[in-house]
Parts: sequence; C-alpha cells; structure tokens
Amino acid sequence: MKHFKIAILPGDCIGPELMREALKVLKVIERRNEVRFDLCEAPFGASAYFEFGHPFPDETRRICTGANAVLKGPVGLSYEETQKIPVDLQPERGAILPLRKHLDTFANIRPVSLPKALAHFSPLRPEIIGNGIDIIMIRELVGGLYFGAKESGINSQGLRYVKESLEYDEAQIARIARVALDFSRKRKKVLHNIHKSNVLKSSVLWNEVVEEVARDYPDVEIRHQLVDSAATLLCLNPGQFDVMVMENMFGDILSDQGGGILGSLGLMPSACLGPVNAYYEPSHGSAPDIAGKNIANPYSMIGSVAMMLELSLGMPEESRNVWAAIQSVFAGGYSTPDLSRPGSGLKIIGTDEFGDRVVAALEAQTEKT
Ligand code: NAD
Ligand code: IPM
Ligand code: MN
Repeated sequence: MKHFKIAILPGDCIGPELMREALKVLKVIERRNEVRFDLCEAPFGASAYFEFGHPFPDETRRICTGANAVLKGPVGLSYEETQKIPVDLQPERGAILPLRKHLDTFANIRPVSLPKALAHFSPLRPEIIGNGIDIIMIRELVGGLYFGAKESGINSQGLRYVKESLEYDEAQIARIARVALDFSRKRKKVLHNIHKSNVLKSSVLWNEVVEEVARDYPDVEIRHQLVDSAATLLCLNPGQFDVMVMENMFGDILSDQGGGILGSLGLMPSACLGPVNAYYEPSHGSAPDIAGKNIANPYSMIGSVAMMLELSLGMPEESRNVWAAIQSVFAGGYSTPDLSRPGSGLKIIGTDEFGDRVVAALEAQTEKT
C-alpha cells in the first residue's frame, strides 16, 4: 500500500465548493487502488488571514513542505473586500506568491484544451476552431516582475512614485526553457517562444538563453512570437500553437485568454512544478461574483487532480480515467451554467451534481473492468 501526503488548501469564495468535488474524485481513486491519501487540510488565503492573522500561516507552510503534493483552491476576495486587508497580507501577495517561492514551483503548466467534441463551448467560429484546441502554455512562475525589486515613495519633485523591476538570470530562463522543450519533444516538436524583445531587454536575454538551450533539442523547432501578436493569433488561429513558453506576467495574461477561447475559465486546470515540490490549482481566481451559489464549474479543480495523479503521484492511467470521466459528463449534454449559450441545449447542473456525475462515470469504469 502506497501512502501519499496531500496538503489540501480549500481557499476562498468558490475554492471550498470546488475542493469538495475534487475530494470526491480522490476518494474513488483511493477505493480502487493500493493507495492511501493522507489529506491534511490547512488554512490559506483571505479566510486564513481573518481567522489566524496571516494568509499563509507557518503551520500551513510546514504542511505544504512535507506533502507529496499540494492541492489548492483559488484564493482572494472582491476588490472591495480585499481593501479590508493590509496590502502585504492580501492573499495574492501574502500567500500565493510566497507559496510559489517557498516550493520553488517555477514551471506552471496550463493546458488550454478543448477536444473536438466540445468545440461548441468555444466562442470562436467552427471554421477557426477546427478540430478543437490543444495547447500547453508554460509559464515561468517564480521570477520576472512579480518577484523583482520594488520600491515606492516620494521622488525629488515631491511626487509619489513606484518602481518594479522585471528580473531574470540565465539559470532561471534555462530551466523553464528545458521544461518547455521537453514537453515539445513529446508532442508536435514546435515550441512557440513568447517574448517582447523589440522593447524589453529581459526578453533579449530570454530569447538568447532559449536558443542556447534549444541546441540540445535539434528535433524541436523554435518559433519566436511577440506577445502582443500572439494574443491576436490565439483568437484567429489557435491551431498553430502546440507548446508555448513565456515569462511570468505574459503567462498570467495569455493563459486567462486561453480560458476565453475555450469558453470559460472553469476549463483551466494547472500544475505548478518545482525541483522537489509541486502544487496543483485552477488557473482562475476565486470568482466572488458566483460564490456560494453552487454554479462554479469544478472542471478546473478536478482537472488539477488529474494532473496531480499523473505528474506527482505516478498514476497516469487513473489520470486518463479522470479526464475521460469529465468528458463523459459533457458528452451526456450536462454542464455548469458558465458554458451555456442561448440555444446550446445544455442540461444545466450545479457544481455538486457535476462532481457526482464525474464520480458516477469513474465508478462505471470500475464496473466495466
Ligand atoms: P476570476 O478568475 O475569479 O473570475 C473571472 C470570471 O470568471 C468571473 O466572472 C467568474 O465568475 C468566472 N469564473 C472563474 N472561475 C470559474 C469557474 N470555475 N466556473 C465558472 N465561472 C468561473 O477573476 P477575478 O474576478 O478577476 O478575481 C477574483 C479574485 O481571485 C481576485 O482576488 C484575484 O486576485 C483572485 N485570483 C486568485 C487566483 C489563485 O488563487 N490562483 C488566480 C486568479 C485570481
Ligand atoms: C494566477 C493568478 C495569480 C497570478 C495572482 C492571484 C497572484 O492571477 O495564478 O494566474 O497573477 O499569478
Ligand atoms: Mn491569473
């Protein structure tokens, strides 16, 4: 019997609603395999701040460090509610970024994927979307503007000013380039390197290092693409992209656009990988606008479980089974409301029913075998 310690950080707003569904799925996997998941729930985010005075308490930090994997729901509050928390203790700056740095999860894998059968969920026209969308965005997660030196104050003219810097060294670029090249090698062998070297010196170094690392991957073609035009091309011709690699901030923005071309951010799971630790979370936020209504799409969270099974727990077959179970719920014509359009004919279900149907589909697989 294998034992895995999994830190469970439910998060804020829709976070706990999504996490409940993810845990149902983990229970099924546990029941039918020689594996035990020791789930250790820990406070994280705005709720942790209000209850314990810090969005990333020391005890949570300890639990995350000692876990085989961390499963995290989104954190954060509405803009207005966030103002009730001191700037540096707001859950994004006070919890998510420190979690990423602490675990050194530099490689954020964000699949932007819509199988052909689900292409109707996309707002893109059928002739654009073709056989569906199948892109992996790889975002550097512990460098760049997010973590560069910052200062603010009053300048010599008496004006308030702020300075934030986009910093990378060659080792940081090389390690994310290697991850992206490894992914490309296993897929279509075309890597789009997203940059802004026509303006930013950081991109000049980035591209240089990507080219250097790519010499070890002669079978992979590198295509350099400016980030602004990449945004347009994602809408006009997403089929040209397979694996895309980019710095932290570009990846934040383009990956949410990825959710847009799929039809909902609720279709965006992710994996955050480091040399030792890994954590898994939806790419989207805590969706305060729909919290507590049982209408959030748990695909992103259950998909993150599937990624964890494959990438951290050595269970690729069960990972495929989870993906298949999710797809079969959609194939039955069911969906949460985020994917519904007038005339779509979808049978609208809640967050909990979506999870229950994924579980039923998983259990039906067990009966078949
Ligand atoms: P958001 O991603 O929370 O929501 C954007 C839109 O997408 C909303 O209309 C929301 O209802 C919808 N949406 C998101 N996830 C959905 C799902 N699973 N099912 C259906 N609809 C879904 O972005 P926002 O409103 O700009 O941010 C809200 C908060 O989340 C902020 O505090 C932000 O900082 C935080 N945030 C946290 C994370 C994280 O924890 N990793 C990521 C992004 C944003
Ligand atoms: C994401 C989020 C985070 C980011 C925020 C909440 C810190 O938007 O994971 O995409 O910008 O990285
Ligand atoms: Mn984001």
